[in-house]
Amino acid sequence: MEGINLNQIGVSFKGSGSYVPNQILTNQEISKKVETSDEWIKSRTGISQRRISGLSENVSEMGYKAALGAIEMARWDIETIDLIILATSTPNDLFGSAPEIQSKLGAINAVAFDLTAACSGFLFATITATQFLKAGSYKRAVVIGSDQLSSYIDWNDRRSCILFGDGAGAIAIEVTNELDNLIGFSMRTDGQRGSFLNLPSQNNQDLIIDDINFSSGGFSSIKMNGQEVYKFAVREVPLIIENLFKKTNFNSENINWLLLHQANQRILDSVGDRLNVSSEKILSNLSNYGNTSAATIPLMLDEAIRNKKIKENDIIATSGFGAGLSWGAALIRWG
Ligand code: UT7
Repeated sequence: MEGINLNQIGVSFKGSGSYVPNQILTNQEISKKVETSDEWIKSRTGISQRRISGLSENVSEMGYKAALGAIEMARWDIETIDLIILATSTPNDLFGSAPEIQSKLGAINAVAFDLTAACSGFLFATITATQFLKAGSYKRAVVIGSDQLSSYIDWNDRRSCILFGDGAGAIAIEVTNELDNLIGFSMRTDGQRGSFLNLPSQNNQDLIIDDINFSSGGFSSIKMNGQEVYKFAVREVPLIIENLFKKTNFNSENINWLLLHQANQRILDSVGDRLNVSSEKILSNLSNYGNTSAATIPLMLDEAIRNKKIKENDIIATSGFGAGLSWGAALIRWG
């Protein structure tokens, strides 16, 4: 089949896992805090509820649980894992939370690091991992998307606080010299539009000693121009997927699933319409979890695999998009 290079080392997708915190925050409950309603949130976003991390939970704890699920599904001996990439924008350690996951797992032979690309993070991390595998550098990789946006939401801003939630998902990827199950990919960023959605640092100026200034570290809350992000998503996501279809000789009819970053049901429906993908092929669990940033794609993937919607050899067109601005797409065959 065109678009697949059989001469190269390829990758196969061996397992998935996910984890969400137990605390549920419903639309009705949010409407006690800000002026909104269940009806407004559902009709504008498709979201009914989201999960919020408890006090003892953080990105590495959630990521660890998701990774363990993926490793168990893959039936891997933990010591055979070479690479762990954690996609997150909300690490519990700014120096990197992936090594903590490595330690919790006991993956003593793996190198582990964080990768930040907001809601495109899981897709970018998956592509990054596959490049190490295809180059022959490593054999087994775990890619995790884990985010705790609840810590950075302005809970008084009704335009953004209704959208987000916490969670984690992960996949296990292995090198193969059989068919390459990463059929194609594309990644983009446009820093000029970065101010549409960001989480900027907020520094306080101080003096170390006379004449030597410094800024103490810290972050503000999520800043979002919802309408601009919406327009960006419904324009760029269909384009990047269409181009990927052309490049790989696939089309909306011969894919089994469209797995988009779960940001807003209206975005999913609009992208589906533009691509002519029938609604039964569009995966969505937004209603239960909202936008969990780097976690949405693996969280949805794991749910669909475990309830046997996605089957071995199914073709999935996936796309992540969000802050940066960043966006990307990949065409994969599950298994
Ligand atoms: O990973 C990417 C993350 N970001 C996104 O995906 C964001 C993409 N954008 C969106 O999903 C939508 O733009 C939102 C859901 C955020 C907002 O929906 P919208 O249809 O674009 O609403 P809007 O911003 O145009 O606001 C319409 C009205 C405004 O009132 P006025 O000025 O017309 O009187 C808002 O003040 O709705 C008001 N509004 C609300 N009303 C009730 C805004 N937020 C709320 C709310 N409840 N939570």
